[in-house]
Amino acid sequence: MTTRRDGWWTDAVVYQIYPRSFADSDGDGMGDLPGITAQLPAVAELGVDAVWLSPFYRSPQDDGGYDVADYRDVDPLFGTLADAQRLVEQAHAAGLKVIVDLVPNHTSDAHPWFVAALAAPPGSPERDRYVFRDGRGSHGELPPNDWVSEFGGPAWTRVTEADGRPGQWYLHLFSRRQPDLNWGLAEVRAEFVDILRFWLDRGVDGFRVDVAHGLVKAEGLPDWPYERDRLAMYGGPKPPLPFYDQDGVHDIYREWHRVLAGYQPARMMIAEAYVGPAPRLARYVRADEMDQAFNFEFLVTPWDPAELRAVVDRGLAAFRDVAAAPTWVLSNHDVVRHPSRYGMPADYPIARGLRAGGQQPDEALGLRRARAATLLMLALPGSAYLYQGEELGLPEHGTIPEELRQDPARLRGGTHAGTRDGARVPIPWAARSPAYGFSPSGRSWLPQPPSWAAYARDRQVGVAGSTYELYRAALALRRTHRLGRGELRWREVAPCALAFENRDLLVLLNFGPSPVRLPEGWEPILASADLAAAGVPTDAAVWARRARRSAVAGVVPV
Ligand code: GLC
Repeated sequence: MTTRRDGWWTDAVVYQIYPRSFADSDGDGMGDLPGITAQLPAVAELGVDAVWLSPFYRSPQDDGGYDVADYRDVDPLFGTLADAQRLVEQAHAAGLKVIVDLVPNHTSDAHPWFVAALAAPPGSPERDRYVFRDGRGSHGELPPNDWVSEFGGPAWTRVTEADGRPGQWYLHLFSRRQPDLNWGLAEVRAEFVDILRFWLDRGVDGFRVDVAHGLVKAEGLPDWPYERDRLAMYGGPKPPLPFYDQDGVHDIYREWHRVLAGYQPARMMIAEAYVGPAPRLARYVRADEMDQAFNFEFLVTPWDPAELRAVVDRGLAAFRDVAAAPTWVLSNHDVVRHPSRYGMPADYPIARGLRAGGQQPDEALGLRRARAATLLMLALPGSAYLYQGEELGLPEHGTIPEELRQDPARLRGGTHAGTRDGARVPIPWAARSPAYGFSPSGRSWLPQPPSWAAYARDRQVGVAGSTYELYRAALALRRTHRLGRGELRWREVAPCALAFENRDLLVLLNFGPSPVRLPEGWEPILASADLAAAGVPTDAAVWARRARRSAVAGVVPV
């Protein structure tokens, strides 16, 4: 059997595309696959290795497509299966790999299996594909246990039986329109192997596995009466959750590993698993399981040198222990964009998101730190995931009017209530075009803020010092210096700084109030901000190489 430990993904930079918000080709205000295909050259130009597409499958779109009604078809909102095929081919022609999203924890309530389950009686094989239980209480009027949905409220919804009476309850860790599947059933496992093959046979290079830690639930579905914060769950002393990170999930990924191993060229899987501490997460990337897992602990770490250093060390060590490549990520479609996170006070409960009428970030400060953080991330060994628009330095849209919000989380006050629409707003391509070039009609399914004109791609391409050109330069240097396959060696430069060498580069971030000098013998080749004569200024990062003689003599080369 071929080993998939090392492959194109080991040091890849992957660009996440949220199909609803990338590029709209037909003017309905909703992004689509032909829109993405048309912009693939722009993605390749940035210098990334792969794209990951959030779900584009047939779906009622209750949760932005993470509620799948048909895993083998494209939603008409986004195009056709032929459009998906063309996208994969064009991406490959542009030198980009394609990762698609796989949503195995739950289906949509419009999936034929769930429709059949509702029509069938309790105890039937149709119901057994999901997690149906009788309620507690003398008339079954109480949920079967105390589990709470990620989007707030009970994780159970009661159904009405064929005779019109209130009946059983079904489990949904997310919205009530996302019933959890029963992964104890061989039929469910076989179905997903078939779905994997369906997309593998169409040439996709990998899968991002949604809620990878959730598929198996603890025997007997025990209560779990504790407080929980999804983004602050790393290393806490709480008893293990009965619905996440159960040992049984790993058997599923071992089976999928064997499926992928049968394909050439090599394919990969990455786990979306909000699991901590790092050694627990590393279990998802043991040699016979997945290839990568998102290291969200890095994403939730505040702007602090000691904490960032510790989280990098923890990540590197945990992944090294299982001989897997580490991954790094700062933004995605579920969290407040990192320029806005870093622009908020450290004690602001950022996991709850930004709201119209609420406190808003310091945009300039946030962007400054975000650019520095990106230079940190892109210099680390391993693979990095970018989220569409971050190469423009886009902030969150933090003031979307409540009535225009669409995220199902907003309705129920859950752990990330209302956080996510602001990161999902269609991105700006051209400052002076309708919808900033997102859609030819000027429509946009979420409103774009006026301030985004300044961030439009056409305002930044070719502009020295723009965030776009910073990303492009960093990605090019990362490639030529093979940083993704290097090794990190910390250097002690100043207490308020983070500094390390990777291959022949030195990376320095300054968190302190006054400039920090590069160590003797190094000269800057890329900086996130204008360098002061006295060194690297506050909240800035520099990549440096060993100075040539002239620089040592005091002449800073251009
Ligand atoms: C993942 C997705 C998120 C979705 C949830 C349920 O966390 O990233 O967007 O709401 O799974 O599928």
